[in-house]
Amino acid sequence: MSRKISRRVQRIESSATLKMADLAKELRRQGEDVISLGVGEPDFDTPRNIKKCSKEALDSGFVHYTDSKGIPELRELLSEKLGRENNIDIESDEIILTPGAKFAIFLACQTLLEDGDKALLFDPSWVSYKESVKMTGAGIEWCSMNNELRPSVEEYKDILESTDISLVVLNSPCNPTGQVYSEGEIRELVEIALDNDAYVLSDEIYEKIIYDREHYSPSADYEDVITINGFSKTYSMTGWRLGYIVADEELINQFIKIQQHSVSCPTSFAQKGALCALNDPVSDEIVGEMVGRFKGRRDMLVDGLNSFSDVECVTPEGAFYAFPDVGRDSDVVAEQLLRECHVVVTPGSAFGEDCKNNIRISYARSEERIKEALERMEKIFD
Ligand SMILES: Cc1ncc(COP(=O)(O)O)c(C=O)c1O
Repeated sequence: MSRKISRRVQRIESSATLKMADLAKELRRQGEDVISLGVGEPDFDTPRNIKKCSKEALDSGFVHYTDSKGIPELRELLSEKLGRENNIDIESDEIILTPGAKFAIFLACQTLLEDGDKALLFDPSWVSYKESVKMTGAGIEWCSMNNELRPSVEEYKDILESTDISLVVLNSPCNPTGQVYSEGEIRELVEIALDNDAYVLSDEIYEKIIYDREHYSPSADYEDVITINGFSKTYSMTGWRLGYIVADEELINQFIKIQQHSVSCPTSFAQKGALCALNDPVSDEIVGEMVGRFKGRRDMLVDGLNSFSDVECVTPEGAFYAFPDVGRDSDVVAEQLLRECHVVVTPGSAFGEDCKNNIRISYARSEERIKEALERMEKIFD
């Protein structure tokens, strides 16, 4: 049979970190102790109370399809949470629970973009935005960040005023930089986008992993902003696959068509666990402890990195990534770190074109492993 693969899929790149992952696997096979600081997920277990609710749901036979938007009681709780914590005044019908925030982003891109359209992404930005946009046939305009790893507003405005942009993706706290944008910064970016008839997709998946800063949700004040969030990072539930998308009813009625004909609904018993994540005050306590641990690790990592004279690390204010400038080609540095120090990091080239001298280091690893990784790095940094 002569095989044909669609151009749409051929356009998509597989993970940029695959080569490194293969090399890490090979080293482990040879018995080496490899420290992985490439991961994008908390190293903590899902809180026990959440697991308990999900197990009870399974045992009671809650194992069938649910409403395609997700169970009404979870959407109800989410609409209360969004009102209370994010100042977003929304009905539960304006929320779709999805199998992961990644799928929520996919739904939005598929619905709002097509061949010939353009989306604006910041350089650097999380790897899957680019491929989600490309899957629709739309093109990408990249907007740089400044030296402090924050959006270059002048350039952003120029792009929006000179190019027909359909969608802007904002992400605060940001993966890979760890930066958190202030309410003022976000308002300015959103107003420029809306003045130029672009939708804004606000990915707030790291909203709770934030240090001494306030999270701001632009949907609180602006229409035509679509909010993305999920349970993966806040509650250490990456494998449960549960995210959500919030938008007005007109958009939700379009997004839901794709969910109905692709995945049907999110996993039934995962949703019951999420109910407990939102309902049980114990979950908040556990999240608070986890964020405290992340903050301590951040400080340890950033201090350690900045003690090397050839490394410069802006202090991240949220998420669990540091994005230091290592002063030379980060593809080479990442490979060197793996081969010579047995430490996995992600080169900046995975996140765009501009940050070829940065590496992303995830500190979602134990304090001991971070300390050990820093000691090993002395081999290649001055
Ligand atoms: C910025 C950002 N958005 C969305 C996601 C996807 O999260 P989920 O596990 O809910 O699909 C990730 C995961 O790495 C992320 O870093």
